[in-house]
Amino acid sequence: MRRMTIGSRAKRLFSDTHPVRALAAALALLATLSVLGAWYGHHELARLSAQVARLDADLASTTIALAANTAQTDAISATLSSEKVNVAGVSSQVAMLAKLQSLDPELLAKYSKVYFLNENYVPASLTTIPDQYDYFSGKTLQILPQVLPHLEAMLSAASSTGVALYAYSAYRSFDTQVALKKDYVVTFGAGTAGSFSADQGYSEHQLGTAVDLETTGMGGELTGDFAKTSAYQWLTDNAYKYGFTLSYPPGNTYYIFEPWHWRFVGIQLATYLHNSHQYFYDLDQRYIDSYLANIFD
Ligand code: DAL
Ligand code: ZN
Repeated sequence: MRRMTIGSRAKRLFSDTHPVRALAAALALLATLSVLGAWYGHHELARLSAQVARLDADLASTTIALAANTAQTDAISATLSSEKVNVAGVSSQVAMLAKLQSLDPELLAKYSKVYFLNENYVPASLTTIPDQYDYFSGKTLQILPQVLPHLEAMLSAASSTGVALYAYSAYRSFDTQVALKKDYVVTFGAGTAGSFSADQGYSEHQLGTAVDLETTGMGGELTGDFAKTSAYQWLTDNAYKYGFTLSYPPGNTYYIFEPWHWRFVGIQLATYLHNSHQYFYDLDQRYIDSYLANIFD
């Protein structure tokens, strides 16, 4: 039997003159075209679906790659930041070491009956306290040049609030301390003298950072009555702001209560002592030393 192609069917359809046969041929052609159309549509749909699936997969892997890149960028940024912190830390350590090299390690050492400054110890330099801050006219009182601005600021601030405060004693050499102690021993006996006067080599005054302060109306004597004055109250409330701290509070284990004797330890350490209600000799020497680099800031 001869098979008919779509083309030959169409040819026959249009050449056939019998109307029933022509209609049947047309219907057959239409059915064939519908089947072909359905097959083509299905095929295209499958192809497009596959393409969408491929694009989805591409998108997913691009997103993963992007996330990985972002994570890597974040990690690099974090490493850079921590390197910056390290560099800043090293720089500040170098700056601190440079500062420490220029500072006398004795400045924050405990002296009173603890450490000894030998007879050759003299501060690197000393300057004279101006007359307006000197209790005695004509007596030269000396102090470390770096401490003087702090002392002047403190005594000026006291004066501006109506509190009279003057330097009564400041730097004392090893030899001056020898002579002073000898006089005290003659006058009061060794026991009493030892309760308020350091042996040579053990006085904070040899460092050039300690001052004895006096106010008016005390008859030029340094006595426990200084503790009852508004000058002492003002010092208790404010001296730390200028870097000074009371060395010998009531009940200390070294000497009698010396309300007049104030030592410069730097604003940071003095503030720490004030805020924590502690005294210099309460602290461990190693802890005190951590303030040395900033003593004159
Ligand atoms: N008055 C103090 C203890 C000194 O002599 O250093
Ligand atoms: Zn003193």
